[in-house]
Amino acid sequence: MKALRYTAYGVRPVLHDIPVPEPGPGEVLVRVAGAALNPLDVKIGTGSMRDFFPVTLPSVVGTDLAGTVERTGPRVTGWSAGDAVIARTDPTVGGAVAEYALVPATALAAAPVTVPLDRAACLATAAGTAWQAVVETAEVKPGQTVLVHGGAGAVGGFAVQFARRAGARVVTTVSPAGAEIAARLGAHQVIDYTTTDFRPEVSGADVVIDPVGGDTEAASLAVLRPSGLLIGVNVPPDAERAAERGVRAEFLFHRSDAGRLAKVVAEADAGLEIVIGRTVPLAEAAEAFDHLATGQVKGKVVVRP
Ligand SMILES: NC(=O)c1ccc[n+]([C@@H]2O[C@H](COP(=O)([O-])OP(=O)(O)OC[C@H]3O[C@@H](n4cnc5c(N)ncnc54)[C@H](OP(=O)(O)O)[C@@H]3O)[C@@H](O)[C@H]2O)c1
Repeated sequence: MKALRYTAYGVRPVLHDIPVPEPGPGEVLVRVAGAALNPLDVKIGTGSMRDFFPVTLPSVVGTDLAGTVERTGPRVTGWSAGDAVIARTDPTVGGAVAEYALVPATALAAAPVTVPLDRAACLATAAGTAWQAVVETAEVKPGQTVLVHGGAGAVGGFAVQFARRAGARVVTTVSPAGAEIAARLGAHQVIDYTTTDFRPEVSGADVVIDPVGGDTEAASLAVLRPSGLLIGVNVPPDAERAAERGVRAEFLFHRSDAGRLAKVVAEADAGLEIVIGRTVPLAEAAEAFDHLATGQVKGKVVVRP
């Protein structure tokens, strides 16, 4: 089968022909219909995350996939050949950007029934992270005010939708190219961060979801209500500085969880929008990976084997 593999840190991944893996005990072989790339894949490739997510090179790129079960290994129950599934693999294992991927049976969730599989792949990390932030960590409630930075990005876009569905008033910051997307996703107020300081525009926020960090994080502390919560997604926020200001700041470490994926899948079947920037065949996956690395991509990048 063809698979996109990291061969060394700091080097563009390469498309290789490798044997189709055989599912071991508890594993499922999935025929991949779509693999979605994430900024984490780029960070793993550069080696900047090797202390957190060490990979054994060469290693197949990618964590997010959807497809159909090809066959199951010993002691797998609940899944059969032909089942449509979605999964996020362990980042140290990867394996998604390939024609077939091995996934622990416990990491699988049934795919949405109303969303094509290649689109569904985009849910695994980005929507999973947004759900963990908005629903599980912040427990956003009706009437609260939630500021989401990067509301046209992958995590931010899902966070806008989940916060809106939770009944919050949603304010988001975007660059001009993202304004229309963020409004479509349900943000009540869209602020262009390239021209406008968001601080005078927002006050008394209950929650800030911050997939950016740095100056954005520091400025965000000023718009939280007392004891309000900032959830840092890109970098660990400065909890001490937050405490000095009477607010809270936590880093969110997204953990793969099939139960959470099932909830996100239900949201997708209930109309969650998945913003796709680019879909490419496996033959163009390395180029798409480079494109993602520029940081200029709007919407998810999907590889369709
Ligand atoms: N902690 C975890 O477990 C975890 C999980 C998932 C993701 N992440 C990290 O979270 C970050 C976001 O991931 P993603 O998949 O959502 O990436 P993405 O789709 O590239 O989105 C990033 C967004 O941030 C926006 N942005 C950049 N600078 C901004 C600023 N100063 N103010 C407001 N928005 C700004 C970008 O908008 P423009 O391009 O329009 O500027 C873009 O829409 C990445 O660093 C990723 O590695 C962490």
